[in-house]
Amino acid sequence: MQLDEFLAQLAQLQSLAVEAFQLARNSETLETARVEYLGAKSGQIKNVQKAMGSLEKDARPTAGKQFNEAKTAIEEAFRAAQDRLGSSTSATMRTPPFDPTVPGVPRSLGRLHPITQTIEELKEIMGRLGFSPAEGPEIEDEYHNFEALNIPREHPARDPLENFYLDTARETTDTAASRVVAGNQPLLLRSQTSTVQIRVMEKRPPPVRIISLGRVYRPDTADATHFPMFHQMEGLLIDKQVTMADLKSVLRMFASAYLGSDVHIRFRPSFFPFTEPSVEADFSWNDGWIEFGGAGMVDPNVLRAVGYDPDAVAGFAFGLGVERLCMRRHGITDIRELYKNDVRFLAQF
Ligand code: FA5
Repeated sequence: MQLDEFLAQLAQLQSLAVEAFQLARNSETLETARVEYLGAKSGQIKNVQKAMGSLEKDARPTAGKQFNEAKTAIEEAFRAAQDRLGSSTSATMRTPPFDPTVPGVPRSLGRLHPITQTIEELKEIMGRLGFSPAEGPEIEDEYHNFEALNIPREHPARDPLENFYLDTARETTDTAASRVVAGNQPLLLRSQTSTVQIRVMEKRPPPVRIISLGRVYRPDTADATHFPMFHQMEGLLIDKQVTMADLKSVLRMFASAYLGSDVHIRFRPSFFPFTEPSVEADFSWNDGWIEFGGAGMVDPNVLRAVGYDPDAVAGFAFGLGVERLCMRRHGITDIRELYKNDVRFLAQF
């Protein structure tokens, strides 16, 4: 083959191939054109390349140079067509035509955790009985968690194994932890909401009628009725001539308002250092009794610790387990379910 003839064939192939790629309207026609011109086995460019072998030796450098230029131009035209069709194809796939008859995607609404719901309801019931909410810190000093509550240093309730004492809080200087430090005492996560009794009475004179709902922490092994973090509702009423009968009436009214009037409750004699006398309050559950809280008449030592006169005022206090109330109400048999964060469980309430 002569060089002229070869170059003419090459030029014609280039213009046909470029045109074919420019005219391709979809990925199928583009693919057909690619196989026709750039196909690895029998594409036309391959055929022309083979034809180069039949040229005179001294014509080959010129032919080779022209061939490379033509091949590059064809490949570029192919890539340009690929970009053009590729992007429009995928954009079409991303946005299907709008169909107004397709049902919308339902949004699942969140809800309050059953314990939060319980807390709101307990506040509401106790509010009707004249108790207003009060709050205290979860990181406490030993004075408010024990001493002011008549729990002396040697009492087993202060054992480090029974509490979450904080090791590092003392080293921080400007945190919530350091602000609750009274004197130079160790800090701990409060083990009961009775601390709030002290914090409220320190600040205001009698009469007092408050409830405090919040988290408390104990290194209890988790089982069906215990968890290391749980909630308590503390109640405190201080006034003139308050008696044990008032305590019993309030707890009865509370239990029947929250659990229903068919729920039986009972009081058992008990001991708490900060109440005298003390009782344990139980309600009936699954043919048995389960303790839902402790209560009693506020010990005169506690009244004295906050500067009240035990001869002038008296009062009662109680501390109830919020989880157990919630469980009894909803028939939940294992406290751990409340804290697994399994939405299938939580969505039922
Ligand atoms: C107290 O914490 C006293 N402060 C209650 C009190 C307040 C008595 C005021 C007198 C006057 P107790 O340790 O029994 O008491 O706990 C009270 C309730 O918290 C228990 O009856 C129970 O319902 C609940 N409770 C205790 N430990 C756990 C736990 N690990 N998990 C879940 N609930 C618990």
